[in-house]
Amino acid sequence: MSFLSIADTTTADLTRMLELGTAVKSDPSGYRTALVGRSIGLFFQKQSLRTWVSCDVAAIQLGIHPIAIRNEQTGLGVRETPEDVGRVLERYLDLLAMRVFDHNDLTNIDAVTDMPLVNLLSDLEHPCQAVADLLTLAEHRPIEGSRVAYLGDGNNVCHSLILGVVKAGGAVTVATPSGYEPDPAVVEAARAHGDVVLTDDPHEAVTGADVVYTDVWASMGQEEEAALRRRHFARFQVDDRIMAAAGPDAIFMHCLPAHRGEEVTDAVMESGQSRVFDQAENRLHAFKAVLLHLLG
Ligand code: CP
Ligand code: NVA
Repeated sequence: MSFLSIADTTTADLTRMLELGTAVKSDPSGYRTALVGRSIGLFFQKQSLRTWVSCDVAAIQLGIHPIAIRNEQTGLGVRETPEDVGRVLERYLDLLAMRVFDHNDLTNIDAVTDMPLVNLLSDLEHPCQAVADLLTLAEHRPIEGSRVAYLGDGNNVCHSLILGVVKAGGAVTVATPSGYEPDPAVVEAARAHGDVVLTDDPHEAVTGADVVYTDVWASMGQEEEAALRRRHFARFQVDDRIMAAAGPDAIFMHCLPAHRGEEVTDAVMESGQSRVFDQAENRLHAFKAVLLHLLG
């Protein structure tokens, strides 16, 4: 079994990963030899801090040997095809986790290999982030009946968040500028599981929300659009007025890295409502849950 998207993950599998995440967080020493003797690859085609370090540490803390595979050395799709890279690596590894630009590279590798493959961020989804996000939300209040307001770009993180929240029993409102909405196929898939509202009004989106969530306005690979996007997204900054509209019981979440002063102010990042560093910690517990689910 692979874990490429929340779209392709059943509610039962997602629930299992959330249960495992909660269990490993409360008893880290209980899992120190759970997967001893296994080897996994961590492949990065773009930058990372949280994903790289938390996945490496998660593996070591489960007894796994992790191997960082740098794209500068392997040249995915340049030195050899993604499919050939996958077919070679499955002869060495028990699981391969990959951060890639093009989600098709993941589905193409998955189609020709038997080894479990994990998406560590593609242009389409960030499913491991969504598991950590749901763990963080569940620490605040029951996901069932919660409403998450996402402000900003309808991107990879937004896609996995929408799908994860509705599959876990919550509802989502997404506020984007026109032209930056989430992928209609993702929205349609999510609406089969729960309420997803799209709007271009950030204040309407956060009113009554339990969580206010944002991500960078220009994702990795979109650096050339950054100035244009700063103009288009200016109204969608999460600031004190937005958090006041959400109310004192709402929490603020961000997958990080944050561009302080763009999608979120310093004041909100540092406020008592901010859960961003708990969320970052939960990437560690979430990846352990993914590994235990796929290899346990
Ligand atoms: N949230 C996240 O995936 O962070 P990195 O890009 O630093 O891994
Ligand atoms: N949307 C961002 C998320 C980084 C974790 C990006 O793709 O760069």
